[in-house]
Amino acid sequence: MSGKSEFGPTHFELNTGANIPSVGLGTWKASPGDVGHAVTFAVKAGYRHIDCASVYDNEQEVGAALKELFNSGVVSREQLWVTSKLWCNSHTPEDVSKALNKTLKDLQLDYIDLYLVHWPIRTEPGSSGFEKMLPLCMAETWAAMEGLYASGQARAIGVSNFSTKKLQDLLSYAKVPPAVNQVECHPNWQQPALHNLCKSAGVLLTAYSPLGSPGTWLKGNVLKEPALLEIAETLNKTPAQVALRWGLQSGHCVLPKSVSESRIKENFNVFDWTIPQELFSKFSTLHQQRLLRGDFAIRENGPYKSVEELWDDEI
Ligand code: A2P
Repeated sequence: MSGKSEFGPTHFELNTGANIPSVGLGTWKASPGDVGHAVTFAVKAGYRHIDCASVYDNEQEVGAALKELFNSGVVSREQLWVTSKLWCNSHTPEDVSKALNKTLKDLQLDYIDLYLVHWPIRTEPGSSGFEKMLPLCMAETWAAMEGLYASGQARAIGVSNFSTKKLQDLLSYAKVPPAVNQVECHPNWQQPALHNLCKSAGVLLTAYSPLGSPGTWLKGNVLKEPALLEIAETLNKTPAQVALRWGLQSGHCVLPKSVSESRIKENFNVFDWTIPQELFSKFSTLHQQRLLRGDFAIRENGPYKSVEELWDDEI
């Protein structure tokens, strides 16, 4: 772990040696028309990490905002961390670099700081939904990801939505081990087993939906957890800040999504205070529930016949 000031961590060190800023702006569910402004506002407010994906269908707008930020000297390319993700329909080795090139074109960048395999799910090349699912061939997809790392187009590579078992499998044959596993993680879905594996294998866990995605179809109630409300009141912080600070103190990056200026600022005010141990221990008693179960990928005749299979029983 690096960037460890009294109230840090402001950064975590990856197994590549790079330092990833510990709070990133999530852009999933940020609509076109809103996302560019959110990115601009966040960077001006101090964020140095933007989490993107081709499937969010907003990378062109993010790219236009980044270009303007670089041109106006608010931040330089080297000062900003940008992550993107390979969609399920591009797992075939020759499609992997095409997909990154498309993302780089949309984002108007010549390299990405971190490129992730978005899901352990493979769909037919060119298809958009999950109707045409194919067996996963992670070894060949990963070899193509390693090629992107070798070329320097992706300065780090990793995965997303991998269970403990799937991450272990990948680690057993990867020549370049994944730097990151980005998964759902918040006080109501803490994933201790996955955390332990990541820690022992030198893979950084990064958390999507760190607030439990309130107000979205995932319908998380993390910010209404009585223990969280109590801690927030005691520390004079908001429930969202407490949820994010819990993540940082647990040792992972948090990627809160917001398109609201006040909430973008609120979510970044997590570095000059700490949750003391006697309050932190209350998190261990919270009810646990995965919100994004991945039912969309379950097919009677597909590679995953149940959500238990998709998550290797971590559900
Ligand atoms: P908005 O974009 O209008 O701010 P997550 O990152 O866990 O997926 O959560 C994202 C959801 O939480 C979005 O609906 C976002 O709405 C909302 N949100 C973001 N920051 C906060 C906050 N500080 N307090 C309450 N809701 C928030």
